[in-house]
Amino acid sequence: MRRVRLKFVGGLEIEFVDRDKAIEQINEIAERGTYPVYVVYGPEGCGKTALFKQAREILEEHNYNVIYANPLAEDREELLDYTPAIRDLVREVLRSFPDPYSRIIDAAINIASQVVKRMRKPRVAVLMDDVFQAVGLDNAEKYVKTLLNLIEHPPGDYENIVVIVSSSEGITRKRIGRHSWATLRILWNMSRKGFRELYDKLPGTKPRFRDAWRATGGNPRYLGLLYRANWDTESLVKDIVESKDLEELVKGLNPLETRILQESLEDPDTLFEKYPETKTLIDKLVERNLVIRLWDRNEWLWIDTPPPEKDPGLGIGRHYAWQTPLHREAVRKALETLHGQGTSP
Ligand SMILES: Nc1ncnc2c1ncn2[C@@H]1O[C@H](COP(=O)(O)OP(=O)(O)O)[C@@H](O)[C@H]1O
Ligand SMILES: [Mg+2]
Repeated sequence: MRRVRLKFVGGLEIEFVDRDKAIEQINEIAERGTYPVYVVYGPEGCGKTALFKQAREILEEHNYNVIYANPLAEDREELLDYTPAIRDLVREVLRSFPDPYSRIIDAAINIASQVVKRMRKPRVAVLMDDVFQAVGLDNAEKYVKTLLNLIEHPPGDYENIVVIVSSSEGITRKRIGRHSWATLRILWNMSRKGFRELYDKLPGTKPRFRDAWRATGGNPRYLGLLYRANWDTESLVKDIVESKDLEELVKGLNPLETRILQESLEDPDTLFEKYPETKTLIDKLVERNLVIRLWDRNEWLWIDTPPPEKDPGLGIGRHYAWQTPLHREAVRKALETLHGQGTSP
C-alpha cells in the first residue's frame, strides 16, 4: 500500500505515518462495505482528514470509485476529489448544479448515485469530511439519512458501497448516536510510537520528545502548531482560550460547576456522574470541543487504537478525557484569570 503525502505546517510535506490498526480496519471495510453509515469522530486535529486521504488510497487499491468531499477545505481542489476514472461523470454532474462548489455535499451524493446508476455493479466509496460543521447539526441527521438511503435503496446494483463521514463536533454522538442510521467510531490522538515517528520527521531544533508528547497528548495538529510557534506552549494556550471564548464559559458557571471544573483538571472522571450538576457542565465542555466522552475501550468502538484506560498526565480518564493537555491548560488558564490561582470562587 502506498502511503499518501500530506501537507503539514510551514509548507512541510509528510508521509502518512503509523495508524496500522486503522489501515487494517479500512482494508476490512473495503472487503465488506459499510452498513449503516460510519461516522468517525475524535479530537480536533487528531488526524481524521489525514486518515480519509489514506483511506481513499486504500479503497482505490481495492478498485473502488472514491468520491471525497470536504466542504470546509480552503482550496477549491480540496473541496472535491475523486478517482480519475469517473472524471467525465463528475464533470457532467457538476454542470447540472448552478454553483456546485457551494453545495458540494449534495453534488458528491449525486455523483455517487450516478456512479451506482450508470456503471456495471461498481464499487463506490463516499468519504465526507467535516460535514456536520458545514451543514449545521440540525441538518446532520438528514444528511446521514440520505447517505443511508444510498446504501439501502440504491438507484442501481452495486458490488459494494462504503460511506464514511467524519466529524469533530462534540455533540455528534448525542445527535447521531441515537439513530440506527449510523454507527459511531472514535479516532483518538496518535499513539506514542506513531507520534514519535511524526516528531522525528520535523526538521530543525525541537524540544525533548517527552515534552512535545506531554503538551499535545499525541495530537498531530497541535504538534504542527507548536512547531510553527517555535514551541511556545504559552502562546498556543492563549490562542485556545481566545478562540474558544473560555473566559466567557468560566464566567457563566455557578460556584459548584466551577469547583467541579477545577477538580476535573486533575481528573476528568470527576465529570462522570459525580454530581447531578455535572450534566449541563459536561454539555458545555463537549460542545466547545474541550472534553470527549470515551465510553469504554471496546474494540468495536474505535478506529485505530484507543487511548489507555487512564493517563492522568494527559488528562485521560476512564469515561472522559480532555481532547489534548493543551485544551486542559487553556481551561486552567481561564479559571486562573477569573478566580485566581488555586483559590476557590
Ligand atoms: N498519520 C499521520 N501521518 C502524518 N501526518 C498526519 C497524520 N495524521 C495527521 N497528520 C497531520 O496532522 C495535521 C492534523 O491532522 P488532520 O487530519 O487535519 O486532523 P483532523 O482532520 O482530525 O482535524 C495535518 O497536517 C495532517 O496532515
Ligand atoms: Mg479535518
